[in-house]
Amino acid sequence: SPSDPDLVERARAAKEKLGDKVFVLGHHYQRDEVIQFADVTGDSFKLARDAAARPEAEYIVFCGVHFMAESADILTGDAQQVVLPDLAAGCSMADMATAEQVAECWDVLSEAGIADVTVPVSYMNSSADIKAFTGRHGGTICTSSNAKRALDWAFEQGERVLFLPDQHLGRNTAVRDMGMSLADCVVYNPHKPGGGVSVEELRAAKMILWRGHCSVHGRFSLESVRDVRERIPGVNVLVHPECQHEVVAAADYVGSTELIIKTLEAAPAGSKWAIGTELNLVRRLANRFADEGKEIVFLDRTVCFCSTMNRIDLPHLVWALESLADGKPVNRIQVDPETEKYAKLALERMLALP
Ligand code: 13P
Ligand code: SF4
Repeated sequence: SPSDPDLVERARAAKEKLGDKVFVLGHHYQRDEVIQFADVTGDSFKLARDAAARPEAEYIVFCGVHFMAESADILTGDAQQVVLPDLAAGCSMADMATAEQVAECWDVLSEAGIADVTVPVSYMNSSADIKAFTGRHGGTICTSSNAKRALDWAFEQGERVLFLPDQHLGRNTAVRDMGMSLADCVVYNPHKPGGGVSVEELRAAKMILWRGHCSVHGRFSLESVRDVRERIPGVNVLVHPECQHEVVAAADYVGSTELIIKTLEAAPAGSKWAIGTELNLVRRLANRFADEGKEIVFLDRTVCFCSTMNRIDLPHLVWALESLADGKPVNRIQVDPETEKYAKLALERMLALP
């Protein structure tokens, strides 16, 4: 079993043997059994920033998903090896934009005569290839905690943004934080010729949103917001910006996983909260704040884990740590130098945002 005391002991022993040679990063969506071994926990922005914080560590064990491990590899020196305990820990949203599809989209924009004045802004939840495309075309990466600042910057560089690959984060930021209207956004569908939009629509749009989404956050509906408000009078609804626009519009607060945690830390005793994000995090917060009299529930009543985040479990972590302690590293994530060069440019633009 994952909470097997023997496995806990083995993880502890391997980590102790490795000492400063290993640095374990854990995203907030990781299981409790894994997060207990993280040296640092965070949202995807904090983990990208902190990845380079321990240059003396030979190994970075990334407890999160593939695009996060790639970003850590891009932002750290060649001497540091990034390890993802299960290579099957991908992200369905990141998979929704391939390099070929994005190159095709750029051709469509070029033919419409607008590529020169369009700035790509790519969500962290994208492959290194997409980040490299973004860097090559003068764009930046963003996360859910700095999307507004990234868009402010992008509109100083050009007239229009191509936002990849999460249509919801793009739309929510444009409409909620930047004062744009829904009519300023068009959706580019990579599965349709020309993206399924007319040249006129592309030219008129301020935001061209890639048709990608998160399958976990996509499950929250307006119905779930209405239900919880009825069930728990006075409840505060706090959701992640990967939720659909109508859910975000009906919520009281919106923010990244780190902001969700900070908001609950600052919340007064006796307050009630319904949280629209991944279930490992919501459960951990519900337990953590129960003693302080803060009632925290999951926004939807159906179980909703991120299945790929959950692939990193204690057995995989033990396997990875023991392989490092034995000097036979497994599951190294290594981005090729050419991709790394341009992806790094885009990531550094994000890290330099005001
Ligand atoms: P955060 O940057 O808010 O941690 O979000 C990452 C993610 O994958 C959300 O689904
Ligand atoms: Fe990807 Fe959604 Fe899982 Fe985040 S929660 S890693 S966006 S599938």
